[in-house]
Amino acid sequence: MKAWVYHDYGGPEQLQLGDVPTPVPKDDEVLIRVRSCALNDWDNELLRGDFINRLLNGLFRPKRMPILGSDIAGVVETAGAHVTRWKVGDEVYGDLSSNGFGGFAEYVCAPEEALERKPAKMSFKEAAAIPQAGMLAYQGLFDVGQLRPEHSLLINGAGGGVGSLGIHLARNAGIERATGVDSTEKLAFMKSLGFDEVIDYTQKDFATAGQQYDLILDCKTSRMPRAHASALKPGGTYCTIGGSVPKMLVQLVSSQPIRALTGKRLRLVALNPNKDLEAFNDLFESGKLTVSIDGDFGFDDIPDLFKKFRSGAYKGKLVAGY
Ligand SMILES: NC(=O)c1ccc[n+]([C@@H]2O[C@H](COP(=O)([O-])OP(=O)(O)OC[C@H]3O[C@@H](n4cnc5c(N)ncnc54)[C@H](OP(=O)(O)O)[C@@H]3O)[C@@H](O)[C@H]2O)c1
Repeated sequence: MKAWVYHDYGGPEQLQLGDVPTPVPKDDEVLIRVRSCALNDWDNELLRGDFINRLLNGLFRPKRMPILGSDIAGVVETAGAHVTRWKVGDEVYGDLSSNGFGGFAEYVCAPEEALERKPAKMSFKEAAAIPQAGMLAYQGLFDVGQLRPEHSLLINGAGGGVGSLGIHLARNAGIERATGVDSTEKLAFMKSLGFDEVIDYTQKDFATAGQQYDLILDCKTSRMPRAHASALKPGGTYCTIGGSVPKMLVQLVSSQPIRALTGKRLRLVALNPNKDLEAFNDLFESGKLTVSIDGDFGFDDIPDLFKKFRSGAYKGKLVAGY
């Protein structure tokens, strides 16, 4: 099969289109003909080879995951002997980050429980855009953030995957006021998604602007915990999804003292892949979810997908269809 493989860490030029053996599903797996795969920050960091991902994937060279791409949508081609949930021809989607990635290829294997049914009216690209960013948004807003209708919400880095999906979840939960923070070029996009107020982080620091929120969901943690606590209303919660690892570690050690002193919660969101995909199906099928996809990328354009991601000049999700 055709696949985008990489043998060295670095930029998108490390991705090479090659012929590799088609994977063979284990008894509890299905083989999927991939029709679409989205790009996530994790793919980018694996390719770049930052320290944490080198520990995961090989210190000097990428060894364990030669094909990137975790958020896939496709069609079941064959099913292992013990698979009961899926049959040949079923349209499925899911996040394979706990199962070896492999989506930037014609075929990939996945355990049956890692997959969700793709609604007939959801395109393969829309489906591939949802899993990782959607789960981070869902679990950040509800499992960790305990979002309630009367809450005021701020999403930092809201012009990307988590923010563009999360705003629909928050609206559906009935919240009245949502603020989105991102760069100048993404302000109009965030407004079009339904954010009531938008803040340009290049012009204004939401944490020191004097406004307070019940829940802050942060995709790009870049401040110290005290600044985040000061932007919370009494009893409020700040959830970090990603960003500066040192600052997230400082948060980890200071969250208890800050809670004791102020009553405000500072929490980390740990991705639980695919757990809440059904909620997205329900939302999509009831017409309450719009999936924002930037550009029109195909299988041959996957290095360009990484280039676009690294430029930061995208809105919503970057997805390749094939
Ligand atoms: N917690 C977990 O278990 C887990 C698992 C997987 C991934 N993650 C993390 O979760 C996050 C996923 O977020 P996502 O999918 O929404 O990412 P995304 O699509 O890359 O969106 C992030 C947005 O943040 C903006 N941004 C960059 N710097 C910013 C700043 N200083 N202040 C405000 N906005 C800023 C970016 O725009 P510009 O570039 O134009 O500024 C972009 O629009 C990533 O950080 C990823 O590493 C966490």
